[in-house]
Amino acid sequence: MKVLVVGGNGATGKQLIEQLIQKGLTVRAIVRKTAKLPQNWLNAENIDLVYRNILEIDQNELAAHLKDCQAIALTLGHNLTLKGIFGQPAKLVTQALSNLIKAAEKNAVPMKIVLMNTAGNRNPDMDKGLSFNEKLATAIIRVLLPPHSDNEQAAEFLRSQIGSKHKNINWVIVRPDSLIDSDAVTGYKAYPSPTRSAIFNPGKVSRINVGHFMASLISDEHLWIKWMGQMPVLYNS
Ligand SMILES: NC(=O)c1ccc[n+]([C@@H]2O[C@H](COP(=O)([O-])OP(=O)(O)OC[C@H]3O[C@@H](n4cnc5c(N)ncnc54)[C@H](OP(=O)(O)O)[C@@H]3O)[C@@H](O)[C@H]2O)c1
Repeated sequence: MKVLVVGGNGATGKQLIEQLIQKGLTVRAIVRKTAKLPQNWLNAENIDLVYRNILEIDQNELAAHLKDCQAIALTLGHNLTLKGIFGQPAKLVTQALSNLIKAAEKNAVPMKIVLMNTAGNRNPDMDKGLSFNEKLATAIIRVLLPPHSDNEQAAEFLRSQIGSKHKNINWVIVRPDSLIDSDAVTGYKAYPSPTRSAIFNPGKVSRINVGHFMASLISDEHLWIKWMGQMPVLYNS
C-alpha cells in the first residue's frame, strides 16, 4: 500500500512517515525544495520524494502522483513565523486538501484521507456546545491566528462537502490536543469528542503518537472502519 503524504518533513509528518515505513507501507512525500529531510530517507526504496510545492502542482500532475496511492495523509501546518501565520497562502491546508481531493476524484479509485487537525476545532455532529468563555476565546483566536480558521475550514470541507456518502473518498480527521515531542510511542487514547477544554484545560499528546495513530488508521482496516467519517481527539494516557 502506498500513501501520499503532504507536510511529511514537519515535526509530526516525520513521525508519521517513520510509522508508515515501520508498518511496511510505502510513501510518496511531496516536500518543498528547501525541506530538511532525514539522511536515511534520501535513498530509501520505500520513500519516493517529490520536491514540489503542493499548491503549485496542477490537477493532472497531482492525479499522476496519486495513481498508485491508496491513501493521502496531511500533516501540513502554517510555519510559526509572521509570514506563515499572517501571509499567503492563508488557506494552505484547505487548498491543498481540496486540490488533492479533486485529483483523487479524477482518478476515480477508492482513497482514504487522514487529515491532521486540532482539538481546538469542533465537530458540530458530535461535540457538546462551547461555554460562553470558550466561544469568546475561539472568536478571538480566529482573528489573531488565521491558521486556526484554515484548520476549521479544511475539516468542514471534508465533513460537509465530501460527507459520508462519497463514492470513492473516505476520511478521518485526527484532532490532537497540545503537541509535545517524545522519542517513543507511548499509551494514548482516541475519543469521539474532546474530554476537556482545548482552550482552558488542554491535554497533551506526543507527535509520535499522532503519527502512530494516523499510520494505524491507514494500515488497520478495523481501526479505519471504527473512525471513518469521524473526528477523533487524541490525548496521551
Ligand atoms: N502545536 C500544537 O499544539 C498543535 C496541536 C494540534 C494541532 N496542531 C496542528 O498541527 C499542525 C502540524 O504541527 P507540526 O508541529 O507537525 O508542524 P510543522 O513542524 O510546522 O510542519 C508543518 C508542515 O507544513 C509545511 N508547510 C508549511 N507552510 C507551507 C507552505 N506554504 N507550502 C507547503 N508546505 C508548507 C511544512 O513544510 P516546510 O518545512 O517546507 O515549511 C511542514 O512540512 C500545526 O500546524 C497545527 O495546525 C498543532
